[in-house]
Amino acid sequence: MSATPQNATPRRILVLGATSGIAEATCRIWASQGASLFLVARNAEKLAAVAADLKVRGASYVGTAVADLDDTDSHPALLAHAVNSLAGMDIAYLAHGILGDQISAEQDFNTAAQIVHTNFMAPVSLLTWLSNYCVQRRSGVLAVLSSVAGDRGRKSNYVYGSSKAGLSAFLAGLRNRIDREGVTVLTIKPGPTRTAMTAGMPKSEKFADVDAVAESIVKAIDGRKDELYVPFQWLPIMFVVRSIPERIFKKLNL
Ligand SMILES: NC(=O)c1ccc[n+]([C@@H]2O[C@H](COP(=O)([O-])OP(=O)(O)OC[C@H]3O[C@@H](n4cnc5c(N)ncnc54)[C@H](OP(=O)(O)O)[C@@H]3O)[C@@H](O)[C@H]2O)c1
Repeated sequence: MSATPQNATPRRILVLGATSGIAEATCRIWASQGASLFLVARNAEKLAAVAADLKVRGASYVGTAVADLDDTDSHPALLAHAVNSLAGMDIAYLAHGILGDQISAEQDFNTAAQIVHTNFMAPVSLLTWLSNYCVQRRSGVLAVLSSVAGDRGRKSNYVYGSSKAGLSAFLAGLRNRIDREGVTVLTIKPGPTRTAMTAGMPKSEKFADVDAVAESIVKAIDGRKDELYVPFQWLPIMFVVRSIPERIFKKLNL
């Protein structure tokens, strides 16, 4: 873990969905490195607690804004305020998302639309503004939490999975457009990880540890990687899952 060297300018990091378990764990590492953080979340009480914790852990600056990220109309003003508060931006980290209720989404379009809006439409809106900001400056990292669930639709969570598949495809195209402009786009694909999102799921005690996942994410951002499967074994697992012929796959209970 690399700390900010003395007298070096702290990294300026914007975190969207800062009360997410994975985001919080990542921010704890950045705080211990002395980073400047701007945190956006919709729950004011949780956000204040996270911000206070990160200050204690060594963040050189912690700014906050309470916002429901489903409200895409508010994004330009929110993002402009965030980068002004940070006096620039080196990394944007998009972490918000919902699992949603698959069973309900199978019956009710509004439930499905909500999942797609939060996990796909809202990030597309945020990334449109953020990518143009970074391209103008020819620098920056856009690190986004997608999911292994986006690699292939499965009966147990294909609404969530398709929202993440759309997000991963958007990020691949965005990378293809702006990597040559000096902007890194990192697609993060966690496997099941122990956070509030997975609490109560069967065998959740066997899911990945959030601090280990966060450490891999920080390394991938520092290494300016394009894509991260985390934990790493999800790379070969998803290769196999994607390779199963559809005539077999459609009969599996996954
Ligand atoms: N945990 C896993 O197994 C796993 C695996 C693959 C990918 N991911 C992805 O990783 C990301 C982080 O998930 P997590 O595991 O850290 O889950 P989490 O702890 O449940 O975090 C999700 C966060 O998203 C926020 N959020 C949801 N809708 C929002 C909205 N409209 N506006 C603002 N914030 C909103 C939630 O805020 P509230 O607290 O206010 O509800 C919460 O802080 C998500 O994109 C998730 O899809 C997670």
